Amino acid sequence: MRKNFGSKSLMYPMPVLIIAAYDEAGVPNAMNAAWGCICDYDKVAIVLDKGHKTTANILKKGFFTVSMADAAHVTEADYLGVVSGNKVPDKLEKAGLHTVKSEFVDAPVICELPMAIECKLLSFNEESEMLIGEIVNVSAEEAILGEDGLIDPMKLRPITYDPARHGYYTLGERVGTAFHDGMKLK
Ligand SMILES: Cc1cc2nc3c(=O)[nH]c(=O)nc-3n(C[C@H](O)[C@H](O)[C@H](O)COP(=O)(O)O)c2cc1C
Repeated sequence: MRKNFGSKSLMYPMPVLIIAAYDEAGVPNAMNAAWGCICDYDKVAIVLDKGHKTTANILKKGFFTVSMADAAHVTEADYLGVVSGNKVPDKLEKAGLHTVKSEFVDAPVICELPMAIECKLLSFNEESEMLIGEIVNVSAEEAILGEDGLIDPMKLRPITYDPARHGYYTLGERVGTAFHDGMKLK
């Protein structure tokens, strides 16, 4: 038997993305966003409420970064999702997080989060609040790279969000190989 939940935004896994941008004065701010994804080979799509400080900053500056929230920074990531830079201008400092300017875009990279997607704003739809960004660069700390030089999800330990219970979870173990396992049934 299947249970029907109706029209709900339920999808597993949902990412926990930390979106960061500078304001006009160069002050960094960041927020938590779970309604986001890769939407093309070089693009991200995120639903961002117009009222957020981060959204206003991105629209003014035209650049932003998307860091993966990780298991080591659950409290900080959640704080960025419950407090607004509109009311707490030094929100990142209060969270104990530090930033440096990206080498590629005019946006802050959060030092404590080991992987960031550095983006240029392509469009923002006022009605749907859907923001599209072009991926200019992806950067990662060496500590989360595997022996093959690629980002190792088991070292990164990104968290995912369960919108039904509001839980944060880590990823499980590797269970297969893409573009390979299905070949057994060909
Ligand atoms: C788990 C979680 C997921 C969230 N996802 C989104 C989202 O996808 N889009 C959005 O506009 N706000 C989302 N929020 C809310 C913002 O992060 C929150 O309103 C934040 O305070 C905005 O900060 P700012 O005003 O400093 O930019 C989420 C919050 C949490 C805790």
